[in-house]
Amino acid sequence: MKDSLILSFETSCDETSVAVIKNGNQILSNIVATQIKSHQRFGGVVPEVASRHHIEQITGCIRDALNESGMSYPDFDGVAVTYGPGLVGSLLIGVNAAKTVAWAHNLPLIPVNHIAGHIYGANLVKQIEFPAMALVVSGGHTELVYMPKEDDFEIIGETRDDAAGEAYDKIGRVLGINYPAGKQVDQMAHLGKDVFHFPRAMDKEDNFDFSFSGLKSAFINTVHHADQINTSLDKNDLAASFQAAVVDVLSDKTVKALKEFPVKQLILGGGVAANLGLRDRLKKDLTDFPETELMLVPIHLCGDNAAMIGAAGAMLLRHHVFADASLNADPSLEFEYIS
Ligand code: KG4
Ligand code: ZN
Repeated sequence: MKDSLILSFETSCDETSVAVIKNGNQILSNIVATQIKSHQRFGGVVPEVASRHHIEQITGCIRDALNESGMSYPDFDGVAVTYGPGLVGSLLIGVNAAKTVAWAHNLPLIPVNHIAGHIYGANLVKQIEFPAMALVVSGGHTELVYMPKEDDFEIIGETRDDAAGEAYDKIGRVLGINYPAGKQVDQMAHLGKDVFHFPRAMDKEDNFDFSFSGLKSAFINTVHHADQINTSLDKNDLAASFQAAVVDVLSDKTVKALKEFPVKQLILGGGVAANLGLRDRLKKDLTDFPETELMLVPIHLCGDNAAMIGAAGAMLLRHHVFADASLNADPSLEFEYIS
């Protein structure tokens, strides 16, 4: 079969990224311009600032992605782009850049859901086999996605309030850690113990949904109470206790889902999938499911990047999923929730 070559774009949040992907599984280039430093002083992503950075970065990222891959526009079979979910002003920059390239070079435009991208990041390491289950945990999302086949995404559980990464970033702030706090909280957690026994919300409920806002409040109240009575708490123990609660609920619900939906593979993707505590726990839990292979998206591809969008785009190209010049950003794009 002829090779397929995709030029892909990702600008849903605070990374401007352009990649060249061959056959849906080989990265020829994956340029990521991060804006983290510009947002750190605000403690989170400022949408207006993010859009401006995307505008400044996008053409340079395209140039670098083409140079590094050694490809030029006529080589491509399609242009894939994240069109949601995400920040509308940020998404629009990628969508318009992709539309422009597709129109100017007469290439098909492939609309990609950001969450499908996080899942297809796994395909860059090993081919995904179906049926599959994906636990997608990021700064904006916490979802269990059941995939009976490669182009069918069904949400069977999701967070009712905060996303796991959002909770990490908020409690990180209380610990005095810069945004995004997840990685550092993870490192501190490995040095501490779960002595605070924070709540495991919805853990025993008969569904696959999550909730992290109660955990976040319990954490903040514990720290504030200690401040009021002039006691100092061990920050590593606080981080370990928070992480234990997050990892417990994420893994318990995933195990419950695997019992009800037997699958060939479990994929862990999204920014929080870089969490070493969560990766270790799922490795242990999966020993009870010898028929299910654990697919951990490699840590350097867990955060937002265009390579994962190109991997999902190659699958959509096979299914002839195309958009025309009317494609718009859809900030609240979601897969269907199957209850
Ligand atoms: O997927 P992503 O790059 O952006 C969104 O689509 O949201 O995820 C970013 C999130 C941030 O909240 C960050 O704190 C979190 O991923 N994160 C982690 C770790 N590394 C990044 N959370 C927990 N443990 C980590 N090691
Ligand atoms: Zn993401």
